[in-house]
Amino acid sequence: MKTNNIFRLLTLALAAMAFAFVTSCEGPAGPAGPAGADGTNGADGAPGQDINETCKQCHNSNTEIIGAQQAQFAYSAHAGGTYYNRTGQCAACHNNEGFRARASYTDEWTEADAFTGALTQISCYTCHMVHETYTLDDWGLTYVTPVTATLFGFESDAYAQGSFVDNGNSNMCMQCHQSRDPGLVPAADATGTISITNKRWGPHHGPQGNVSNSLAGVRIAGNASYPAEGNGHTGSISGTITCVECHFGENKDHALGFADNYGTKVFANYAACVQCHTDEDTAEGLHEALAAEVQGKIDALQALLLDQGILDGSDYVAVPIDLSADQAKALWNYKLAVEDKSLGLHAPTYMKALLDNSIALITP
Ligand code: HEC
Ligand code: HEC
Ligand code: HEC
Ligand code: HEC
Ligand code: HEC
Ligand code: HEC
Repeated sequence: MKTNNIFRLLTLALAAMAFAFVTSCEGPAGPAGPAGADGTNGADGAPGQDINETCKQCHNSNTEIIGAQQAQFAYSAHAGGTYYNRTGQCAACHNNEGFRARASYTDEWTEADAFTGALTQISCYTCHMVHETYTLDDWGLTYVTPVTATLFGFESDAYAQGSFVDNGNSNMCMQCHQSRDPGLVPAADATGTISITNKRWGPHHGPQGNVSNSLAGVRIAGNASYPAEGNGHTGSISGTITCVECHFGENKDHALGFADNYGTKVFANYAACVQCHTDEDTAEGLHEALAAEVQGKIDALQALLLDQGILDGSDYVAVPIDLSADQAKALWNYKLAVEDKSLGLHAPTYMKALLDNSIALITP
């Protein structure tokens, strides 16, 4: 095609030169002829879109459409902004730019992933594709592919990096709500001594993604058995219930349904439970009973760790301390249960088994 075009150009050029040569023998040119008639009008183009109408899909004088979500969002911990101005690894989950720059955790975090511009708090832009197309498609979520490599296992040789099952819209939640292990997490069969120097040793604050996959605990052998990795709330029974279903619900409540920043009693989205449990009241009753049971186990394990001088009075590790591997395993599982904050609901059978087997392991 290309050579063809070049050939055609050359031919044209030669023809023009030949014409110029021939005509140069003639006399001067006559005056220009009259202009030709106007051509017919072209067809009308499609009407342009009123920019205001585009914007009004989401913005109007009473911000009816995004107003509800803005008000709810302001009430959620996501608007809390804890450490949003931190750079480095923290930025990957605690602010908008760090998260969007990072986009996925499929590789171990390195300094090169750090975002170096101005940082803002988690906002609509963190989770939605705001102002990308200026259509309702912009409500699409920023991250929808499964989390195939977690941060857990990068520091501790005992654990391979895990992956989470595909949770659709909740894959995004699990990008941030996952544990960073601080190293020295013992394997289930570890022996020997583990020396801890950091009083904050334990999973980082948001291990809900791991727990919802029955991961990140030390699977101490014992009387209680564990569901397969990947299963969460429904344990060994097939079926799934996702973060978004329980925490946003059908009404897409951006206050996150369960909790607020001001310490008042949290409420649960029981409407999400009825697809599997009899009705909302039954689910609520089950929830309360489980929370009480798991709190009891957490308290029992905490008492053992206090007795053995492993925890100080403020629930920090009494560092520096040399622990037997068994003590370290039980301490880790205690911290995981506390940091998960759901009192077992994210994975009832898994959490009860971790706590029961930990208690049995270090009871003198
Ligand atoms: C699909 C919904 C959607 C559409 C369509 C949309 N916006 Fe927005 N816009 C948002 C959201 C969400 C925010 C962030 C609100 C917040 O942070 O509370 C926003 C924020 C803004 C802001 C505040 C400054 C900023 O950038 O954060 C301006 C100004 C704005 N939009 C202008 C427009 C204009 C002009 C149009 C039309 C060309 C438009 N928007 C169309 C959803 C939309
Ligand atoms: C993998 C994502 C991730 C990284 C990386 C991360 N965090 Fe977090 N962090 C979270 C999540 C999610 C929560 C909220 C968990 C919850 O409420 O249970 C949280 C909560 C916290 C809290 C408690 C906030 C509160 O309201 O009580 C502090 C403090 C904190 N992080 C500090 C840090 C610091 C400092 C760093 C960097 C050294 C860091 N985080 C790195 C995900 C992360
Ligand atoms: C932590 C992540 C997160 C943040 C921050 C967030 N959203 Fe959402 N938003 C979601 C999720 C998850 C859904 C539900 C998606 C689904 O169910 O398909 C949703 C749904 C919505 C919907 C309904 C879209 C539809 O297709 O029906 C709107 C509108 C919306 N969000 C607006 C906002 C606005 C405005 C803000 C900022 C004030 C915001 N969101 C902040 C996660 C977030
Ligand atoms: C960009 C990282 C990020 C994403 C994505 C994210 N979270 Fe969070 N989430 C956090 C951080 C950080 C906190 C703690 C914020 C603080 O205390 O300032 C938090 C807090 C929470 C809380 C505590 C609520 C409260 O009011 O106490 C819940 C519940 C929660 N997130 C659920 C979700 C769900 C469900 C999704 C997915 C739709 C999600 N998160 C997506 C980072 C994230
Ligand atoms: C997809 C189906 C499904 C949904 C939706 C669901 N559950 Fe469950 N739930 C189960 C299954 C299955 C088990 C049994 C798990 C096992 O034996 O390991 C269970 C177990 C429980 C338990 C533990 C009971 C015990 O003591 O062992 C509680 C509490 C509970 N669900 C409450 C809830 C609440 C509250 C909701 C809604 C917020 C909910 N469930 C939504 C399927 C579901
Ligand atoms: C079966 C319903 C259910 C599912 C599924 C679920 N959660 Fe929860 N979550 C709860 C309940 C109930 C609580 C506890 C509220 C309480 O008692 O304080 C909770 C607590 C939390 C908290 C701590 C809130 C606080 O008190 O500050 C975070 C963060 C959280 N969940 C995130 C997630 C994430 C991320 C996922 C998905 C990986 C998820 N949850 C899946 C029901 C659920």
